[in-house]
Amino acid sequence: MKTILILGGSFVGVGTAHRILKQASKTGPAVKIILVSPNTHLYWNIAAPRALLPGQFTDDEIFQSIPEGFKQYSKDQFEHIVGFASSLDVANKKVEVSADAEGTKPVTTIRYDFLIIGTGSRSKEFDEDVKAPVKGLGSTEATKDALHEFQELVEKSKTIVVAGAGPTGVEIAGELGYEYRKSKKIILVTSGNTVLETAIPSVSKTALGMLRDLNVEVKLQTKVNRSSRIKREGPNQIEISLSDGTTLSTDLYIPTSGIVPNSSYIPDKYLNANGFVKVDEYFQVKGLENQHVWAIGDVSDLESPQLLVADRQSGHLAKNIGLILNNNAPLLYKGGMRGMGCQIGKKAGTGHLGWVKLPSFIVSFLRKNLFVEKLASTVDGSAY
Ligand SMILES: Cc1cc2nc3c(=O)[nH]c(=O)nc-3n(C[C@H](O)[C@H](O)[C@H](O)COP(=O)(O)OP(=O)(O)OC[C@H]3O[C@@H](n4cnc5c(N)ncnc54)[C@H](O)[C@@H]3O)c2cc1C
Ligand SMILES: *[C@@H]1O[C@H](CO)[C@@H](O)[C@H](O)[C@H]1NC(C)=O
Ligand SMILES: *[C@@H]1O[C@H](CO)[C@@H](O)[C@H](O)[C@H]1NC(C)=O
Repeated sequence: MKTILILGGSFVGVGTAHRILKQASKTGPAVKIILVSPNTHLYWNIAAPRALLPGQFTDDEIFQSIPEGFKQYSKDQFEHIVGFASSLDVANKKVEVSADAEGTKPVTTIRYDFLIIGTGSRSKEFDEDVKAPVKGLGSTEATKDALHEFQELVEKSKTIVVAGAGPTGVEIAGELGYEYRKSKKIILVTSGNTVLETAIPSVSKTALGMLRDLNVEVKLQTKVNRSSRIKREGPNQIEISLSDGTTLSTDLYIPTSGIVPNSSYIPDKYLNANGFVKVDEYFQVKGLENQHVWAIGDVSDLESPQLLVADRQSGHLAKNIGLILNNNAPLLYKGGMRGMGCQIGKKAGTGHLGWVKLPSFIVSFLRKNLFVEKLASTVDGSAY
């Protein structure tokens, strides 16, 4: 029986495990899946822009237990090990697991036949003293604690500055504007010429209008000088200098400047200059072809870091693993349509599929709950 080791306990890890187990129960041969992640619960981070505000979601609506979701499988079929993959030895097909990301507290070493790398990404601001947990922070407890702390900060703040106008910055500013347009000052600062610069121009324009409708002050073509940040005691304690020569005083500063892959345990030669795992169109790690090592989702360099993409890759890889287990050739992955959706407060949204702008009411209808209703079926596998 093959042991399939999956690293990462989020969309890729949980989704691919369920798909493979379901498939194995129908077409065999039997496999054993070992899932390693520092988190015990899947965090529905898609809803983070709203969850950062107090009183929006209960923890149970955005965190769901992984072992609970796999309880229909026996220990010979599925095992969850809590910890960080801390080193990968491809020659001997084994991974060391540690209680910390740095690998100083070894837990166990796992031998695999197949390896699926799905350790995703963290936000670039992971090392800031105040963390907006837009992604998990490691353990579920750490993520929950950070979320609760952040909600309190939001509650107390009269002025909030969000920096960066990618989807995360725009959605956070939108939620804050929607909820507090009368009681707090919300400012979005971006160095770009518009918001959502990677979207099609008409979507950017719509998003900008929607933010302004929610009383969000948008400062375009303005950079925050990160090294000039001053922190004092009391209200408006944070002072940031902007590239236009002015300064802003604020109670809360939320920088959102993108993601970095969680790949430090993987030998450098398999990573690109930004730390993403290099893969081919079968998701095989380049340099390890035909050795049954794949990387998908945010951690890989193939497509944009989106759940939509991660889920499509997961479905394709699970199918390919079924083919390989039955001694058939795997299929080439061709990708799919690019697109994005962005919710701006509870009643508005915009997005596009390919080059076509989607009607705002459709985006905001689809995204109105930020898909939290899909958490349970994702974690217990009934979605697949
Ligand atoms: C605020 C926000 C909103 C978003 N909204 C959308 C959206 O609406 N639509 C969309 O398509 N995409 C959205 N995304 C992107 C989406 O969150 C990611 O594409 C998705 O999370 C990728 O899933 P993943 O499983 O590859 O990795 P991740 O979700 O990053 O998960 C990685 C997992 O690996 C674990 N891990 C990390 N290091 C290790 C290690 N060393 N060993 C073991 N485990 C480890 C982590 O704890 C985690 O469980 C959004 C992102 C953000 C930040
Ligand atoms: C990502 O890696 C960092 C540094 O190795 C680690 O501290 C962090 O907990 C990891 N993030 C997640 C979500 O596991
Ligand atoms: C940023 O702030 C630092 C510290 O105040 C200052 O020395 C530096 O010149 C500033 N940089 C820019 C580009 O304004």
